[in-house]
This record gives sequence, C-alpha cells and structure tokens, in this order.
Amino acid sequence: MNITVTVNGEARQAEIWPGESLLFALRERMGLPGSKNACEQGECGSCSVLLDGKLVCACLVLAAQADAHEIVTVEGVAEDGRLHRVQEAFVQTGAVQCGFCTPGLIVATVDLLQHKPDPNDDEIREALSGNLCRCTGYQKIFDAVRLAAGQA
Ligand code: FES
Ligand code: FES
Repeated sequence: MNITVTVNGEARQAEIWPGESLLFALRERMGLPGSKNACEQGECGSCSVLLDGKLVCACLVLAAQADAHEIVTVEGVAEDGRLHRVQEAFVQTGAVQCGFCTPGLIVATVDLLQHKPDPNDDEIREALSGNLCRCTGYQKIFDAVRLAAGQA
C-alpha cells in the first residue's frame, strides 16, 4: 500500500507493507536513519518521534496508521540550519557517549520543553523515563536538559 505523510514539514510518499512499523518506514523507505532501532518493543525510546505533536515510539506505530499524519523526527528538530538548543546542550554537556539513545532523548526533551519550559527534576525524570541510556548514567543528560531549559 501507499502512504503519504508529512515528515519534518515535507510531504513524503512511501510504498509499504501493511504490517511494517513507522520506524521501519522512516529508516528504510524514507532514508531517515536518525530514529534508532534498538528493542522494537516500546521499551527503550531510541525510536521516539512526534506524531501529530505527540511523543510516540515509532516502533509501536504501524506505518499505515501514520498515513495522512504529521511526523517530526530528530532530523527535523534543527532550525534554520542550526542545531536545536537541545542538541547544542547535549553536545556542550557531554551527554552523548555511544549516541544510540541520543536521538530519542533529543526528541523527548524537545517535547518536554515544549510543554514545560522550566521543568523541575521530577518532571525531567518522568519525561525521560521511557528513554534508556546504557552509557551515561543520566547525570549529563539531566545537565543537558537543564541547560536547554536555561537553568544552568
Ligand atoms: S526501538 Fe522503539 S522503543 Fe526501543
Ligand atoms: S549514550 Fe550510549 S546508550 Fe546513551
């Protein structure tokens, strides 16, 4: 079947198998490998994207369900050719090690700050609870979120 979606502000069409995930379609059909595929079970958050402005795990959404909807991936958060302030903050604080979790954490943090521009630690913890990182111990990720929120 054929789907038409808006990805990062651009209309895209893709020929998909009805049972495949949005994550697969983004990565393999649309050439957008930023969203990572780690667990494919909704456990790790490495595939986080915004679907009609709502944070979702792209591995749990059927590509067919996304037909006629709007998606923002990590490739789409930069503005005017410059890194988003959340991306800048992750770089500046050293919150990236292997980087596998980073795209999902960036998207989840962008989503958090859109809804709560000045989050406290509990709100940060809650917002990022669906994103697993095996490398950093989270401290630098928290520093990055605070920096992006203008708290550091
Ligand atoms: S790959 Fe989607 S949550 Fe892990
Ligand atoms: S930086 Fe390696 S999993 Fe997070």
